[in-house]
This record gives sequence, structure tokens and C-alpha cells, in this order.
Amino acid sequence: MNFMDQFNGKMQASENNILAIGELLNDSTKPLKERFRALFTLKNIGGATAIDQIRACFKDPSALLKHELAYCLGQMQDPAAISTLTSVLEDLSQEPMVRHEAGEALGAIGDSRVIPLLEKYCKDPVPEVAETCELALNRLRWLNSNDSDGDIQHNPIYTTIDPAPPAKIEDANVLRDIFLDESKSLFDRYKAMFSLRNLGTKQSIFILTEGLKAGSALFRHEVAFVLGQCKSELSVPALRASLENTEENEMVRHECAEALGCIGNAESYDILYEYLKDSQRVVRESCVIALDICDYENSEQFQYADTLAKLSTA
Ligand SMILES: [Fe+2]
Ligand SMILES: [Fe+2]
Repeated sequence: MNFMDQFNGKMQASENNILAIGELLNDSTKPLKERFRALFTLKNIGGATAIDQIRACFKDPSALLKHELAYCLGQMQDPAAISTLTSVLEDLSQEPMVRHEAGEALGAIGDSRVIPLLEKYCKDPVPEVAETCELALNRLRWLNSNDSDGDIQHNPIYTTIDPAPPAKIEDANVLRDIFLDESKSLFDRYKAMFSLRNLGTKQSIFILTEGLKAGSALFRHEVAFVLGQCKSELSVPALRASLENTEENEMVRHECAEALGCIGNAESYDILYEYLKDSQRVVRESCVIALDICDYENSEQFQYADTLAKLSTA
């Protein structure tokens, strides 16, 4: 999972403060929502000590927290995190959603040295992991091609490092055909998805919601993530339906919960409160985090990743 663009922004912190934030992240007696804010603060600070603190947390029992650790390491784009992410991808005792996020993060860092590793895990028996590694490989090949202009994503609005660049197509109907065509490669469908997100029109939001019913589970979870970024109330009924569908893959339900948190309207609050009692831990915990995001979105709080500011006022 992934989180939103306003949580980005470089921060400066002393070594002692970074260690104090790391201690909070690694303290399983602290509320999960505080640990998430600590994680995003470390992501924004960056550097070797912050990465060490994040690495230490992969022992935690929460798959949700661990997948977010991997996500943040990818978004930091620091090659110093490659060894940690490699061990997480290789560790079969880690949950599929955690290994998936490690594979995606390796693609986000953009270092071609991981190509052989990703080629190996393209054949992983877990479809989410195999598909992610295939996407990450495609991203690395794209970065090395003339088409990429280096690492520029042609992404004027969103600052996340996405698993694929947007397609250079602006016609929503053409994008829809690619986006929903399960015979096309996931990389091409993702490119269409990010273009639809960037269009940000009513029509493009409705097309994106159609993707919540398409294959594969990995694809649907990314659609939910993108709908969270778009923050349009138009997508609430579709996100709600996927969260309510207990047959749906838990990674998809988790991402729908967090997207509802980003939208943060009254209906989202109601649904999220209801699913705080879900039978799947990852869904319950996602609702806790999503409600914290709702609070943030609906408050005057200056930033989500606020652990550093809290330290200096303590
Ligand atoms: Fe996620
Ligand atoms: Fe993910």
C-alpha cells in the first residue's frame, strides 16, 4: 500500500531524533497508527540510519506494517535498501503482500543490478509476487530505454514512483480498451491505468472503478490504490462493494479500505468503522490506518508524517 502524495517532502533530522522515531516504529506496544506515522516520517527523512530503523521492523507480526515498510523503502529510491528488499522477496515465510511490495520496491529504486533476481522471481508460485516482478522488470527495461527520459514519469500531479509510466494516450475510450483487456500485458494495462488517473475526469474515474472487477488480484489492488490517490467520492460505491466482498483477495480489500480513508467522506467513515471488526487482520488494521488518514484529511493537521514535529514539542 501504499500512500498518498501529500505524505512526501524532504525533512531534516538529527541522528538522535531518527533513532527516537525508529524506536517508536519498532515498538509493538504503541498504536499502529502512530507507528505508521513514524514510518512515513522516516521515509521523508531518508538516509542510512532511517533505512536501518525500517529494516529492523521486518520482524513484526503485522503484514500490513511490513508491506508498508517495503513500500516506503521503494519510494525512498535509495540503493542502500536493495539488500534488505532482496532478503524480504526471497524469504518465503513473509506474507505474499509483503514479498510483492518488496519486488515492487526493487523496481521503484530503478537499479538494473536486480534484473537477474527479478527474472528468477517472475516464476514465483505466488501469482502476486510473480506478476509484480514481471512489472518491475518491465519498469527497469523502460528506464533503460530511450523512451523514459531517465526517471521522469511524465506525471505532473502525483509524486509517487509508480510501477509503470503513464501511456502517452489521452483518449479515455482507447485507454479503457487497453486497461480492461486481460489479453494485454499487465505493464500496458498499468500504463493505461496511470493515464486514466492523471486525466482525473468523471469518465476516467468510472473507467477505473470498472477495473475493480477485472483480473488479476494484483491489478485490482493497484486500481484501488489509484482510486485512493484520485480521492473522488464517485468511486466510493465501487470501493465499498470490493471491501464488503469477503471472497475478494485480502490485498484488494486492504487497498479499498485505505482508498476510502483517503476519500474520507461520511460514507467512508461509516464503512471503515464497520470493517474494524473484519475477520482478516490485514483488513481490520487497514481500517484503523484508513480512519487515521480520514482524521488527517478532515483536520487542520499540517502533515501526516508528523512524528518529528511531535518529538520537538514533547
Ligand atoms: Fe497496500
Ligand atoms: Fe501493493
